[in-house]
Amino acid sequence: MAASSVYATVLWAFPCLYLLLKSYRSCAGWRFLLRGRALMLAQSQKYPRQAFTVAVPGNTLHVVTTPEHYHDMNAAPLSSMSPWLAAREMFQPKYTVGIDWGAPREQVSLVTVRSTRHMISELPKLEDEFVRIMQNELDKAVDTKDKRQGWSQVLLWETIQRTFIRVTTHMLLGREAANDDMFLSHALAFIAETGLIMETVRLVPSFLAPIIKGRNTHQKYFFNALARSIEQRRAYTTSTSDPNQETPQSSLEAFVDFAPNDWSLQKCVDAINIMFLIIVLATPIIASHLVQDMYSHPEHLEDLRTEENHVYLSSSSSLSAQLDDLPFLEAFVMESMRTKCFQANTAHRVAVRSFTFSDGHRVPAGEAVEFNQHAHFNDPALYLDSTKFDPCRFLNKGKSIVDIGYDWSFWGVPRHICPGRLHVANTLKLLAVVILQRYDCRIENTKDMNFEWRDALVPSPHTVLSMRFASKVKHSVSSGQ
Ligand code: HEM
Repeated sequence: MAASSVYATVLWAFPCLYLLLKSYRSCAGWRFLLRGRALMLAQSQKYPRQAFTVAVPGNTLHVVTTPEHYHDMNAAPLSSMSPWLAAREMFQPKYTVGIDWGAPREQVSLVTVRSTRHMISELPKLEDEFVRIMQNELDKAVDTKDKRQGWSQVLLWETIQRTFIRVTTHMLLGREAANDDMFLSHALAFIAETGLIMETVRLVPSFLAPIIKGRNTHQKYFFNALARSIEQRRAYTTSTSDPNQETPQSSLEAFVDFAPNDWSLQKCVDAINIMFLIIVLATPIIASHLVQDMYSHPEHLEDLRTEENHVYLSSSSSLSAQLDDLPFLEAFVMESMRTKCFQANTAHRVAVRSFTFSDGHRVPAGEAVEFNQHAHFNDPALYLDSTKFDPCRFLNKGKSIVDIGYDWSFWGVPRHICPGRLHVANTLKLLAVVILQRYDCRIENTKDMNFEWRDALVPSPHTVLSMRFASKVKHSVSSGQ
C-alpha cells in the first residue's frame, strides 16, 4: 500500500474511532437514565467490594460500596470531594434559578444546617399543625374524588405530594405560607417547572441549555414571597432591642437570624430556595412508598393498627414522645426505606481534584462519586431473602429510622449527615398514624406503582389509593384551609 493511502487511512481512522467511542459513551450515558439502578446493582453483585464506573449523561460516575469507601468519603476534605459541586451538577442553578453559584456553598450550608437544627428542636410545637394539614388534605381528597362502590379513587402521588409540600412549607417558610392556597399552587408549579428544566438541561448539548429556561412566572412569584419574608424578619430583628427577641418560627426566620449581616437578599433567597427544592422533591417520594407498602402488604395492617390505637393525635404536647414509642411502625418504615431505597446512591460528590480511595481506586478531577446504598440493602449476607418485605428484620434490634453510619447510609456520611432526618422520620410516622386511624384504604392495582429514572425509584402518578372514612371518624372538611 502506498504511504499516502496508509496516511489517509490513519487520518480517517482516528476521528471515526473517536466518534464511535464518543457515541458509545453517550448511548451508555442515556442507558443509565432508564436502567441505572439495575445496572449498578447487577455490577456490585457480580463484583462485590469493588468500586466501578458508569457513564452518566455528561460525566463519569464512580460507584463505591464498601465500609472502607464509606469511611474514605467521610474523611475526604471538602477541598477534594465537594457535595456543593454535586448539588450544582444536579440542580443546574444557572438555568433553574438563574444564578450560577459562584462561591462555594459550604459556608451557606453551615447556616442552613444551623437553622435546620433550630427547627428540629421546635418540632414538638409543630406536630399538631402537621396532623391538621394531613387530615385536611386527605379529607379533601376523600370528599372530592370520584367514588366507586363507596370508595374514593384518590391519586396517591398527587395527594401525598401536596400534603408534604404543605408540611415542608410550614416548617421552612412558616404557617402563613402553608395555609396560602395561591402560594401553594405557585410553589407546586415552580417545583414541576424546576424539575423539568433541571432534567432537560442535563440531557441536551450544552449550547442548547440557555434556551431551556421556562417563562419563570411561578419562580418569580415564589422568589418574591421568599424575599418579602426575609426582609420582614430582617426588619424585625434590626428594630428590636429585646435580647429575648421572638425565637424563629420557621427555617427561613432562623436562617435570617444566623446568616452574617452582610449577606445579600439574593444569597439568602437562593439558599432557602435550594433547601426547599431538595426537601420537597425527596420527602413525598418516601412517603408515597410507605403508603404503597402499607396497602400492598396488608398482612401487617393488624400489627400496625394495634400499635397506632394507643396514639392520641389530639394530645399535641406528647405527640413526639408517642411517635418514639411505636416499634413496629418504626421497623415497618425502615423496611419500606430499605426495599424501595428511593435513591440507589447517597452522599453525592464531585472530585475537585484527583482523589484516591484507600483500595487504590482513583477518581479524576471533575468526575462524580456516590455511595451505592442499594447494593448494601440488597446484600444477601446482611439481609437474608433480601427482596422479601419483612419489617421484623428491624424489630427490637435497637435500630431507628434516623440511625447514622455505613449500615444505614440513607442520610449520608456522618460529617455531612442530614440534619432534617428526625423531621422526615416523624412526619412519615405521623402520616401512617393519621391514615390508619382515620381511613380505610386499599390499593387494587399494585402493578407499576413506580418507575426508574437515573438512580431513583419514582412513584407513578397513576397509582390509585381507594379511600373511605373509617366508621369511627366524624369529619368536617371545612376545618383548616
Ligand atoms: C426524604 C428526605 C430526605 C433525604 C433522603 C435526605 C438525605 C440527605 C442526604 C443524603 C444528605 C447529604 C449527606 C452527605 O452528603 O453525606 C442530606 C443533607 C442535608 N439535608 Fe437532608 N434529606 C431529606 C430531608 C431533609 C429535610 C426535611 C431537611 C430539613 C428540614 C434536610 C436538610 C438537610 C441539610 C441542611 C443538609 C446539608 C448537611 C450538610 O451540608 O452538612 N434534609 N440530606
